[in-house]
Amino acid sequence: MMKNLFLIISLSFIFQISNAAELNTQFSKSIDYMMMNMSRIDTAPGAVIAAPSKQRPDYFYHWVRDAALVTEASLDLYQTARLTSLQRQNLKKFFLDSVMFAQKTQQNSLLFAGLGEPKFFVDGRVYNGPWGRPQNDGPALRSISFTRILALAIQENWPELPELKKILYQAQLPANSVLKYDFEYTASHWRDLNFDLWEEVYGSHFYTLMAQRKALALGLRVAQSFSDPFAAVHYQQEYLKINQELNRFWDEKNDYIYATINSQSVKNKSIKSGLNKSQLDSAVILAILHSDFGDSQFGFKDDRVLSTFQKIIDSFSNLYVINQNANLAPALGRYPEDTYDGYQTNSRGNPWVLTTAAAAEFLYRTVMQLSQVSTIKINQYNQDFFNRTANMKDLPLGKIILRGSTEYKVLVKNLLNMADSYLSRVLYHANSDASLSEQMNRDNGYMQGAPNLSWSHASFITAKIYRDKAYSQNLIPRGIR
Ligand code: NOJ
Ligand code: NOJ
Repeated sequence: MMKNLFLIISLSFIFQISNAAELNTQFSKSIDYMMMNMSRIDTAPGAVIAAPSKQRPDYFYHWVRDAALVTEASLDLYQTARLTSLQRQNLKKFFLDSVMFAQKTQQNSLLFAGLGEPKFFVDGRVYNGPWGRPQNDGPALRSISFTRILALAIQENWPELPELKKILYQAQLPANSVLKYDFEYTASHWRDLNFDLWEEVYGSHFYTLMAQRKALALGLRVAQSFSDPFAAVHYQQEYLKINQELNRFWDEKNDYIYATINSQSVKNKSIKSGLNKSQLDSAVILAILHSDFGDSQFGFKDDRVLSTFQKIIDSFSNLYVINQNANLAPALGRYPEDTYDGYQTNSRGNPWVLTTAAAAEFLYRTVMQLSQVSTIKINQYNQDFFNRTANMKDLPLGKIILRGSTEYKVLVKNLLNMADSYLSRVLYHANSDASLSEQMNRDNGYMQGAPNLSWSHASFITAKIYRDKAYSQNLIPRGIR
């Protein structure tokens, strides 16, 4: 849609950048589309459908992961965006309803595979067909977003607060409250093999463990504030162990973080994808976005993360035809060996909207974090990232860049341009009504797979919110911007 609207072309940079107005239009449309998938009249209040399509593909279900990420994006909106008062009211109602709905789905899941149940009918019943279960990122992500809802309710002193507290946390075992269930489950099950966020591979996953680490770090604080000291100690101990475990995903030889280790075949499941994979996977980028909380290990400033980011990008840039013929940052898929085309699993994988928007968000947030360090030192891990993604061309090993120097400003500007180019890539392939599906066809770029996937819109929304934050940090002097 946007082809002839790309007006601004940065001189220092080869990629075309769409303008702020286009980004704002997509932003407000994405808010509308996302909200149309939340608490619909044809679902229980608090349910989030993955997408409105009931066939080809049937995504008319509540996935715990997708719902938690939509809740996170909604919290970001509620806390930062200029919303209409009706939108704010609706979001607040949604937050409360989503807790009630989770209470119902948790109870229902206990009769099945437990809290790792990934998918529910829109009335809250467990989806009982064959599926990759358990998926243990779910309870972790849910507890992360509900901890935020609780903090917001306290901050704004909602009249519902006393009731909400009771439903969310009681210092009682066995657990009988929503957050406590998720924390307890996470603390005692993080070692279990389970299915990854793509619902395909049974093993131990970086994405899942990152979410579990953050959940338990938050669990520690929540338990303390609810006078549950034994739980606090327990959550902290397990948090520290997960921190250790995460190091096992770093591959010294290849210089990147593996998506999965210990993968195993499961009866009746095709897991070829789990075994002969490069382990380069956008899930690792998503892990940082969804589960960073300022920890130095596997945060934005960790050079292992920058190294992995660059290698993931490289694995996709020559893979898809559309990456060859538009002057934009590459569209990214889930992982290079993917065979899911949005309708069928044994086909050819495509680039996805949410992973491409994630690259943008990653770069905005990296810029924000870099502004907190006084020097950047080029080493074997980050050299490629700064030379190629930050377009600095030939920074040598050992080179030191001081914050505030001209070189530093160019670097920041280039990273922001590159981030914008990923968002432009999404806009370039979006439908003319700003609707976003799950995927973009790898050969012709048209939207493909589940239409108006909630998570696609959520990922654009959070990327745009971080864009605004990164630019308003005023990192670049006027002349350069
Ligand atoms: C196969 C896909 O690879 C997987 O990620 C997806 O969750 C299921 N199909 C259901 O759509
Ligand atoms: C397929 C994706 O792989 C998975 O992560 C997601 O939860 C479902 N689709 C629903 O959107």
